[in-house]
Amino acid sequence: MGGRPGEMRTASADARTNIALVKYWGKRDRALNLPATGSLSLTLSSLRTTTRVTFDETLDRDEMDLDGQEAPPAVAQRTGRFLDLVRRKVGITMHARVESANNFPTASGLASSASGFAALALAATRAAGIEMDFPSLATLARLGSGSAPRSLLGGFVEMRPGALPDGSDCLPVQVAPETHWDIAILVAVNGAATKEIGSTTAMELTRLTSPYYREWLRSVPGDIEVARQAVLARDFSALGQVAESSCFRMHAVALGATPPLLFWTGVTVDVVRKVWEFRRNGLEAYVTIDAGPHVKVLARPQDAEELLRGIAAVPGVTRVLVERPGPGARITDGRAGQ
Ligand code: PMV
Repeated sequence: MGGRPGEMRTASADARTNIALVKYWGKRDRALNLPATGSLSLTLSSLRTTTRVTFDETLDRDEMDLDGQEAPPAVAQRTGRFLDLVRRKVGITMHARVESANNFPTASGLASSASGFAALALAATRAAGIEMDFPSLATLARLGSGSAPRSLLGGFVEMRPGALPDGSDCLPVQVAPETHWDIAILVAVNGAATKEIGSTTAMELTRLTSPYYREWLRSVPGDIEVARQAVLARDFSALGQVAESSCFRMHAVALGATPPLLFWTGVTVDVVRKVWEFRRNGLEAYVTIDAGPHVKVLARPQDAEELLRGIAAVPGVTRVLVERPGPGARITDGRAGQ
């Protein structure tokens, strides 16, 4: 079924990005984009993607704008493949115009695929005229990016890996809403631009070549259990310790790949050392790092200001953002970027 002549259907959604406190690194099924283990994340308060999708019968191909400009071909292709999933599901053939905007620099290497695909899944299905149940929406978002289902929910979120071959039991669940516990996450941006290697390629390289991969997989469920209990008990030290150790284990297994995957710059290491210096001096804060050079620092809200000053003074740090727990994805009436 195509659209009726002149038919246009539109919807907008926004989603915050999330930071994994217990990391996801490795897939059990690449085609279905199923994670090999669970993960546990915090949805942030303000780093956000807003996306408007318009299915338009007059278009002869999909069009995509990112931050007010034509999206790079790789991004446009990935988005087009995702729209194909939605079209197939709904039974339409209309092309779409996608206008997406991040309120943080897209090329900075800050995670945008989680918020991007959460917002796109929500806006595209609504624009296509369907209101999906949560498991179907989460499954769709996961096909875009493994961390995207976590951004559908607010606060502290556990991604359950599931065990079924079709992945229907691989779903995010909210451990606690954003109002449960006010903690701060500082994001120390350090200059470097876009990622050199995509996370799917990097995870597959790790799975196939790192001798530590099996041990890594074995270590994750215990970390999730500790993190979940720490969140429920609002135990900052326990959550910080498990988050920091999950981060370094993820980077250790990736460093063990051939060729080695090193996501850090010198500035990354300098920020880690700065945070550890604060800790030695009695200010308790913990680091986590994803597949890029930026360090995220978990802190108590009352310590955020002092940490911000210390971290911003590390040579090479270009910007420090202070985030809090934030809400899940939602349909909005606004235009992309507003
Ligand atoms: O969502 P992806 O496929 O870009 O993978 C995310 C991987 C990490 O950010 C490094 C860890 C995580 O759990 O978010």
